[in-house]
Amino acid sequence: MARSYLSGRLGRWPMSASTLAVPACCRASWTHTHLVFAGDRAEEFTSRMAGRPYDGGGIRVTTDATRAASDDDLRALTATRMAELRAAGTTTVEVKSGYGLNVDDEARTLRLATEVTDETTFLGAHLLPAEYEGRADDYIDLVCGPMLEACAPHSRWIDAFCEMGAFDADQCRAVLDAGRAAGFGLRLHGNQLGHGPGVQLAVESGCASVDHCTYLSDSDVEALAGSDTVATFLPATDFLTRQPYPDARRVIDAGATVALATNCNPGSSYTTSMSFCIALAVRDMNMTIDAAVQAATLGGAVALRRTDVGRLSPGSAGHLVVLEAPSHHHLAYRPGVPLVRQTIT
Ligand code: NIG
Repeated sequence: MARSYLSGRLGRWPMSASTLAVPACCRASWTHTHLVFAGDRAEEFTSRMAGRPYDGGGIRVTTDATRAASDDDLRALTATRMAELRAAGTTTVEVKSGYGLNVDDEARTLRLATEVTDETTFLGAHLLPAEYEGRADDYIDLVCGPMLEACAPHSRWIDAFCEMGAFDADQCRAVLDAGRAAGFGLRLHGNQLGHGPGVQLAVESGCASVDHCTYLSDSDVEALAGSDTVATFLPATDFLTRQPYPDARRVIDAGATVALATNCNPGSSYTTSMSFCIALAVRDMNMTIDAAVQAATLGGAVALRRTDVGRLSPGSAGHLVVLEAPSHHHLAYRPGVPLVRQTIT
């Protein structure tokens, strides 16, 4: 009989069972998914593997398909992805919008997201929709005005994609300022495709997290270390877009809080597997297995400003994941192997 444990901040408690019981705080996707979408971008992925670089432009393809889908279709697609996440051991999940990109479809996709999670994020500033080509500032006015108003009842967070080809720092700052004034918590996509102002803007704005952080300068790392902004790494995205991996150890050693997430979306990261992300972080981002598991659990909870999940402490939610493995090290040691036997919430 294998030894099994409950492991977490209260220590390791031997249990007698034939599987390893790891609290869900050791297997959670937490932050950063875009689960409500329709359509398929396998062809884009195939051409990327043949050498075409990722630039985020495919977001418009998914937007067209999502706008055309009925509520019931989107509900069914989202439920399937949630079931997949759950089976892979995730118990708490953030769902972002960003494939509606008009007032009605952003509000609609967020309303559907609230049917599966309380952690919803309004990402109207994901990409400029085709009908606003050449009028980015007009679109930002829409996002900060009528779109934000329509989405507010369905969203806890607001986010923007601060990147060359998406929105610049001033446009993202306008979105974050409008969101703050309306009572949203703040998040930002930044430093995914190259060095840029995303991390600094996120820190200055008091974002709960800045996500991607693939390209970090020394001053970015210093800014993160002196802030409450969590650096959320998305290693499956770097894997599936053939980007370099960030050095997470450098960020941890500087004193910043880090998280790991799947970024499940149809373009840059169509995976629901946190254990795959943990394995990549250990193999390619200079993280120990314990640091990667902590980033996937406690780090994600901090990024969502949650104290009731992601840790073992009195009063925390009793979420558990049962692994068929002698230790949690197998999450990284056996990549691609479905070790989760049960997810309990
Ligand atoms: O986080 N970076 C922007 N948004 C998503 C990708 C969306 C897509 O390509 O459909 C991301 O990687």
